[in-house]
Amino acid sequence: MTPLVVGNWKMHGTLASRAEIGAIARGLDKPGLPPVEAVVCLPFTLLFPAQKIAAGTKLKVGAQDCHFEKEGAFTGDVSAPMLKEAGCAYVIVGHSERRAGHGETSELVRRKAEAVLAAGMTPIVCVGETKAERAAGKAKATVEAALKASLPKASGAVIAYEPVWAIGTGENAKPADIAGMHGFIRLLLGPAGKTMRIVYGGSVTPENVKEIFAAAEVNGALVGGASLKAQSFLAIVKSLPKTP
Ligand code: 13P
Repeated sequence: MTPLVVGNWKMHGTLASRAEIGAIARGLDKPGLPPVEAVVCLPFTLLFPAQKIAAGTKLKVGAQDCHFEKEGAFTGDVSAPMLKEAGCAYVIVGHSERRAGHGETSELVRRKAEAVLAAGMTPIVCVGETKAERAAGKAKATVEAALKASLPKASGAVIAYEPVWAIGTGENAKPADIAGMHGFIRLLLGPAGKTMRIVYGGSVTPENVKEIFAAAEVNGALVGGASLKAQSFLAIVKSLPKTP
């Protein structure tokens, strides 16, 4: 399995950010990098310009959300086929910021993930427990419930384990805990899980990523803040093992 490093730019980036996207693309084309699939998931407004920059390079472009319908009277929404047309290869669905801030349920996340697959892209399905759920010993039960309800029926999704308490806090999960949760997720996925990528997200930085990549069952990372600058995004990519 080729490891996957995904930058989630969240609500950051304007046309001026084309320079940073270009620097990421150029960096990925340099020789000597470990095997990797690298993606930046951008705000909708940057998708078309980013796709122009990424074309012909190793960088792939993705989005951070979509509607589950192809088209219709859904003011403010963007559909999966529209994202495909904009050059997206990946779409994040069910990020905790959407679950918490937009009331997204796992059922809705599953419909979005299915729409992404139907449009010929890969959904990155996010699951993770809150601090309170972890403190109550319910981390695995929370992840299991979210995973089972969010996962599309068809194969082809990537799973992102993102503990909510680790997102944007500077407090990443410990490698042993990440390995434990990823192993648990892999078990829940059954036979299909053998070839599915499970990536970790939550305060990943160039400083801590080596030990995270070294943890068992980790097939890459979903990176927020540290993905906004080409230098730190590329440093994370370069921290991948030379042989996956
Ligand atoms: P940070 O890397 O900024 O903690 O964000 C993680 C995240 O939410 C990626 O989807």
